[in-house]
Amino acid sequence: MNYCWISRRPSIPSRTAASLLPGIHQMNIPLEVSFKDWNVTPLELFYICCFARSISPRSVFEFGTFDGGTTLHLARSCPQAEVHTLDLPNPESHFRVGERFLNTAEAGRIRSIRADSRTFDFAQFKGRMELIFIDAGHDYDCVAADTKNALLMAAPNATILWHDYLSFGGVKKAVDEVARTQPVVHLMGTEIAVLQLGNHRRTSTDQGSSNGYLNDQLGNWLQSDQ
Ligand SMILES: C[S@@+](CC[C@H](N)C(=O)[O-])C[C@H]1O[C@@H](n2cnc3c(N)ncnc32)[C@H](O)[C@@H]1O
Repeated sequence: MNYCWISRRPSIPSRTAASLLPGIHQMNIPLEVSFKDWNVTPLELFYICCFARSISPRSVFEFGTFDGGTTLHLARSCPQAEVHTLDLPNPESHFRVGERFLNTAEAGRIRSIRADSRTFDFAQFKGRMELIFIDAGHDYDCVAADTKNALLMAAPNATILWHDYLSFGGVKKAVDEVARTQPVVHLMGTEIAVLQLGNHRRTSTDQGSSNGYLNDQLGNWLQSDQ
């Protein structure tokens, strides 16, 4: 994966976790953290699990299994869900795909797909996925293709999360394109972009938390000060 550091300013609105996730203050998520390059950060993992808890999806799709750390936490955060996770048949050799969930209690609910996301046929999952996490290839063509397929697989109330929104030009370009027509936001303090479709869509004023509203105002103020 080639790193291509770009502007760290989001072009989409930044939102606090509290404004996107009503109930986050009551969430207590046990994490098994062991960090490798390419993993999401522990804070991002916590927020991803909070989305999973709050949505309680029956079907989850992850683009980019890597060592399976995020997959395992997704499966633990939604015990009712089948978690589909996709990675290349022969990825770079410094990791074993899905090693973190092998021989775990969750392994039976995790469906590992080995294919190139740019050529895989997603039709079987059309309209079924309630939570989708995109973190596979980071060049524009790959993220744009994964995003198109995520929107195809998305259930009406789905949440779609993209990782590396701020550090990869290809990710940012593809996400910003979606944001022209959909209410995509940046999750403050992270590299995550969020699209909450249908009834999951929240604004700072419709989730009944004045803290969420105030935090958003604080976030806007901090951004304008950069
Ligand atoms: C940044 S890592 C994912 C990290 C993971 N989300 C985590 O938090 O641990 C990206 C993964 O996507 C896979 N990948 C890259 N291009 C892909 C493609 N075209 N199709 C499927 N998987 C791909 C890589 O092999 C790698 O395992």
